[in-house]
Amino acid sequence: MTLQIVPGAASRPLATALARCLGLEPTACLLERFPDGELRPRVGTVRGDDVYLVQSTGPPVAERLVELLLLLDACRRAGADRITAVVPYFGYARQDRRARAGEAVGARAAADVLTAAGAQRLLVVDPHTAALEAMFTIPVEMLTAVPVLTEALSTTVPDDTVVVAPDLGAVKLAEHVAARLDRPVAIVCKTRLSGTTVRATELIGDVQNRPVLIVDDMISTGGTIEAAARILLARGAAPDVTVAATHGLLVPEAAERLRALPLRRLLLTDSIALQPDPAPWMDVCSVAGLLADAIGRLHRAEPLDDLLLHT
Ligand code: R5P
Repeated sequence: MTLQIVPGAASRPLATALARCLGLEPTACLLERFPDGELRPRVGTVRGDDVYLVQSTGPPVAERLVELLLLLDACRRAGADRITAVVPYFGYARQDRRARAGEAVGARAAADVLTAAGAQRLLVVDPHTAALEAMFTIPVEMLTAVPVLTEALSTTVPDDTVVVAPDLGAVKLAEHVAARLDRPVAIVCKTRLSGTTVRATELIGDVQNRPVLIVDDMISTGGTIEAAARILLARGAAPDVTVAATHGLLVPEAAERLRALPLRRLLLTDSIALQPDPAPWMDVCSVAGLLADAIGRLHRAEPLDDLLLHT
């Protein structure tokens, strides 16, 4: 079976970079649109092939998800032998349960439609919840960008830095980062008041006069990072804040919120394509090598264990 990397519109630069890591060029893939906005994708020849379709479902989330569904369907109908949906950032993973009566379980709905459209396996990076795996009946491989992030951080994070989880959901990620950097961990307790507002209610750990490295899976409005940074500074942390997150959703108000903080550096991966001109304190490290490694191993039926997220 020939290996093919099909780039979705949301992830073209990443798909091209990872294809090149594998010594390939991405498969031709056109995404036309009818005048009413309806999408009309067309993939090149994939008959009998082992296809990896790369598309993050970041903002605009519904649009990206529909593109992914139509591309999966196109690959299936074009006769691909095996189709893996490579979704570095998986939108809707935050909706893994009904937090309030009357809500949907968005992660499950997304899982069902992806499978129905033709995905036979899913590859994701640092999903918001490990429960994502249980939403699917197809195999789900959850990679982690922690080694990529920590390698990029290792020379710039001062020795006395404390690694901080900005909420309880980020504790495991922060612990993995702290273990690799050999630094202690502190935890912020957070209450979400609305989609854009959170309140940091408590801090567990000592950050007095210490630089801090806040680690999260994603930054959307920047509210979580802002609240964490404010309580850390209020509890005596040095005004030397580094932030690292796998996924930079960065909705419009995020930049302003982050700019107001004493940031040494904000490090994100390219799981979601970022603006070509990021702020000077923003750095991007690539997950292309990680994805290429995982895809190469899957293609050759080799184990992935050391690349996976262990929660
Ligand atoms: C939530 O639990 C996630 O891990 C992130 O902390 C959150 O989604 C980030 O969103 P925002 O930047 O809007 O606070």
